[in-house]
Parts: sequence; C-alpha cells; structure tokens
Amino acid sequence: MRLPPATLEAAARVLRANDRGGWTVPARDLYPFQWNWDSALVALGWRRLDEARALRELASLLAAQWPCGMVPQIVFHRPDPRYFPGPEVWRTDRTPPTSGITQPPVLASCLARLVARARDRALVEAGARQLLPAIERWHRWFHEVRIDPATGLVVTVHPWETGMDDSPLWDEPLARVPTPQGLRLERRDLVAVPADQRPKMAHYRRFLALVLRFRTWRWDQRRMAAQSPFRVADPTTHLLLLAAERDLEALARRLGVLDPEAIAARTARLEGAIRRHLQDPESGFIHAFDLVAGRRLAARAACAFLAFRAGLATPGLTRALMAWLAAVPFPLPTVHPTDPAFERRRYWRGPVWPVLDRLVAWGLEGEPAARLAAVVAELIRRFGFREYHDPLDGRGLGGRDFSWTAALALDWLADG
Ligand code: GLC
Repeated sequence: MRLPPATLEAAARVLRANDRGGWTVPARDLYPFQWNWDSALVALGWRRLDEARALRELASLLAAQWPCGMVPQIVFHRPDPRYFPGPEVWRTDRTPPTSGITQPPVLASCLARLVARARDRALVEAGARQLLPAIERWHRWFHEVRIDPATGLVVTVHPWETGMDDSPLWDEPLARVPTPQGLRLERRDLVAVPADQRPKMAHYRRFLALVLRFRTWRWDQRRMAAQSPFRVADPTTHLLLLAAERDLEALARRLGVLDPEAIAARTARLEGAIRRHLQDPESGFIHAFDLVAGRRLAARAACAFLAFRAGLATPGLTRALMAWLAAVPFPLPTVHPTDPAFERRRYWRGPVWPVLDRLVAWGLEGEPAARLAAVVAELIRRFGFREYHDPLDGRGLGGRDFSWTAALALDWLADG
C-alpha cells in the first residue's frame, strides 16, 4: 500500500512540527510531553527521515529510566499547563520529572526494525548496542518487580499502563477502586477534544484516585504490584512484551551482546503463563485476567489480535479476526459493534486506531494485513493524521496531527 508522495511529505511535516529536539510530542495541544510507546513507534517514522534522530528518540526516553529499571509512561521534559495530571500531581521526585507507571513495551521491537531496515548499518548497530542494556533492564523489571508470583503474569496497576485507558476490559476491575471525597479533577483534555470522544468522568476519577494512592506509597513499585486495588494482566502488555523479548533475543544474538539464553528462558516462562491464564482454550481469544478476583475476564477487545505478532495464533483466533474485519466498514473496531459496551466515537470503546491496526498488521501476512493497510491509508488520505476514527463512517476523532499516525504512514504505508 503506497501513500502518494504529498501525503508522506505531510507526515514528515507533522513529525518536524512535533519535534522538541530529541523527543517528539504525541500531539501538540493534547499531549505536550514525551510518551513511552508513542516515542518508540515515532522513531520508526524518524527512521525514514533521519536515522540518527530515530536513535535519539529512543535514547531520550531511556534516559528517564528509573533505577529499578522501569521506563516511565510520560517524561515531563518541561512544564506545560495544557495537560493534567502534570508532574506536580505525580510527585515522583525524578529529574526530569516523570509519571510513576509504565506503558506497553514496544521499544525493543522498534529498535529491531530500525536495525533490520538500516541504511547506515554501522550507525544503527552502534546505537543499538548502546541502548540494549537499558531495554533489557526494563524487560527484567517486568519479570522481577511487576510479577504475580501465583500465576507468573505481569501485573499492571493502572489502566494508563495498558495504553488503552478506558477500554471496557477495565470496567469491572476498575469499579472496585475507591474514589476519595473531594478529589480535585481537572479535565484539560476537553479543551481540545469534545467530551463524547474522551473517557467518561467516572473513569477519570478512578484513574486519578490510583495515582494519588501510589503517591502515598512513594511509588514503591513492589508494593504497587502487590497491593494496588487495580491489578490486572493486560493482553497488550503481555503480547507486546512476548514479541519484544523475542526481538531482544534475536538482536542480542546478532550483535553479540547481553545473555540471549537468559532472555529465551524468561520468554518461555512468559509464554506459558499467557497460554495458561489469558488464552481461552476453546476460542483461542486472549482475555485480560483480574488478579484481584483471580479469574479471566469475559470482556473482549481488539488488542487480543496482537497475539498474531506474539506467535500465539490459533484457528479460532483467525476466525475471530475475520469476523472483526467484516464487522464494520473501517476495521478494526477496538470493541465489537455488537458488544453492549460499544460506543462508536468514544476513545478505546469502539473507534478504530491506526496505531493498533499497524501493530496488529505487523503480525499478519496476506489479505488481512493488506486490508488493514488499505483501511488506514484511506483514513489518512480522507481525514489526515488523526488519533482515532469512527469505525462506521471513518470520521476523524480525537487529536490532530498525531505523531504516531504520521510515523506509521512513513514506516508502514510508504513502501508496500
Ligand atoms: C492516550 C492513549 C495512550 C497514548 C497517549 C499519548 O493516553 O490512551 O495509549 O500513549 O494518549 O498518545
């Protein structure tokens, strides 16, 4: 699928306009800092324009790594009043300030793609050698600090860590998070985007309540993993971590660094835990797991299809993918339209997200991969580089001039 040169030039202009010098904001009005998985994916766009700049994007994110190994969800490089909750709410005591939670680990996979597609091989391989130890420490943190000993699953303590904030997957486990009286909530996101396209207030109150609770625990990551009132195993985190571990192991072997055997051993353990606890034995579908209640959740979301990239495909899952592709004019809907939770315009509760289509297509071949590329190319041609779209009529929703949407045009839709 090829986008016309003018569209690719427009994509490059979006990245340049969102460049803050070594790091890229996801969207100028809505997200004026550096976000973890946005940056990793945006580096893939930079790779087409300037490989050294792509490496700098990853390095600037890793420079904010915590001593425990966590790579944070947000790096607040400089103050900006347009976002809430800012560093004065998180108070994680880091320089530069960061949030105190993480996001889905796609960094290793993006770096592997930079290396595989490198034009200046010496430059990119040297950059990769420098970055790999920090990425390995981050992965190890998932296995050692954010692990549920009973199941071997990775513990996610906040819906923001899943990158799919208000997904119906989190409705049930989030409902038991208490919201304190007198919670001061500012919705600065509603200045840029209509309220019916953003998470509901009830969700936001619980998002903030969790932040305030962890703050009283001084961001003790082990305590958060053991005691957070919201503790889930998230399909996106697990499936992308599994793929990232495989990519890390391959990079380690190729470049002769790290300990590939150790990475392979923990990857096998992670895969076993996913197969045992997240994958439905009959349907093959990947579900979230509620670690507080100790059971798999029934809710379904499109992130399950990241299983193709993680090597966990089954015939049942392939049938489900075909059904979701056929369910709306512009797939993938993040929630199936027959699901009572489906809302066509609201954030992670129905809209099609180009970035998710791109990540799912990364694990597919043939017709389904071509279909997703064609859908996203059409959405971009008609509506520009938006954050997400109505899956029924394609209309652009959420943020505009969105960095990861521009980046995937350059990385994925430029050359077949
Ligand atoms: C929202 C999305 C998250 C993304 C961030 C910045 O919070 O849910 O996935 O990383 O915006 O684009």
